[in-house]
Amino acid sequence: MRYFQEGNFVPHNLSHMKKILLAGLLVVPIFPAAFSQQPNTKQIFRDIEKQVEYLLVNMDTIPVGPKGQDAGPRTFVNGGLKMVHPNDWTSGFFPALLWYLYEYTGKKEWKGWAQLFSDRIRNEQYSTNTHDLGFMIYCPFGNGYRLTGDSSYRSVIIQAARSLSTRFNPVPGVIRSWDHHKAEWQYPVIIDNMMNLELLFRATELTRDSSFYRIAVSHADKTLANHFRPDNSSYHVVDYNPATGAVNRKVTAQGYSDSSAWARGQAWGLYGYTMTYRFTRDPRYLRQAEAIAQFILARADQLPDLVPYWDYNAPGIPDAPKDASAAAITAAALFELAGFSKAPDYRGYAQKILASLTSHYRSPIGQNGGFLLLHSTGHHPAGSEIDVPIIYADYYYVEALMRSLQKR
Ligand code: GLY
Repeated sequence: MRYFQEGNFVPHNLSHMKKILLAGLLVVPIFPAAFSQQPNTKQIFRDIEKQVEYLLVNMDTIPVGPKGQDAGPRTFVNGGLKMVHPNDWTSGFFPALLWYLYEYTGKKEWKGWAQLFSDRIRNEQYSTNTHDLGFMIYCPFGNGYRLTGDSSYRSVIIQAARSLSTRFNPVPGVIRSWDHHKAEWQYPVIIDNMMNLELLFRATELTRDSSFYRIAVSHADKTLANHFRPDNSSYHVVDYNPATGAVNRKVTAQGYSDSSAWARGQAWGLYGYTMTYRFTRDPRYLRQAEAIAQFILARADQLPDLVPYWDYNAPGIPDAPKDASAAAITAAALFELAGFSKAPDYRGYAQKILASLTSHYRSPIGQNGGFLLLHSTGHHPAGSEIDVPIIYADYYYVEALMRSLQKR
């Protein structure tokens, strides 16, 4: 079975896409070398549309597993597109990106694709074995509900919040992140988990049930107390004793060392506390977001392209791999932070990061499997997804572009 033959939605421009592919017109370098030659946003979105069309065509050329086994694309490694199961933490980013394409262009083709790929992960609303339901469900269904008002999307969001809430233990006061490595960690919580609170805050807005909100605030407070170092960088993993609530250990899984600053983790913290301030207006969260921004920007300023290495303390800098995903998440977060906090010029920084990603990190159209950005790093210590395109980098890049268009 192939993507283009599946479901009720028949893309109008499929044959057009295939013609383009056959004509070999897709390998078009789109990068100006310098910031001064920045393409405008309309041109960037035209390029994004072409590249995502290519990604869809590329998906059509690979065999698809049994129905429901492949939710969408995650990365492009060794010349091959890697598709993921709906239960993968990255499954929601592709449909969420498609919703942004629909929002920007207003084209019903993009709406159709967004609906189709969102539907593929709809059942994950019932998953209780992952803390990543914010990424998996809220990114696509939150966007989908915002743009369509489809009441079934609202139900998915609320059910997913219920499922995520089952992972909250009131003794440590946090949501459990991982179930694996039980011999190593009793109750691990990773900084990334701040991102999943958006699902809970929205569920309270939708239902008026404050239990979701209270779980989110408890998690944000405990993370504030236990995840940060005096310089406002964060540990990746804090392991709690679930019986007493005491902290067992503060370590890393994806960073260089327990005491290093894993680049994407700093970006998750920045985005997470900025978003938490949006829902709570608690100045402690705003101060934390500003403090994290200060940590990141002091280091970004040292880099000619503002894009961090995979860990701020990575060995081998300046030859260490970069992480464009961390830069994209940071840009999206800074656009929001700029609306809450005036100094320093967070919006200006966000624009510079976006310009750098646009000028120096985009894939030529028709290459790299159809992903937008090059040079992200997934899990360096595991030797996995190093210096590759990756779907969450693309999603937050497009989100940052959308946020750049919002009036101050
Ligand atoms: N949340 C997993 C990661 O950032 O790699």
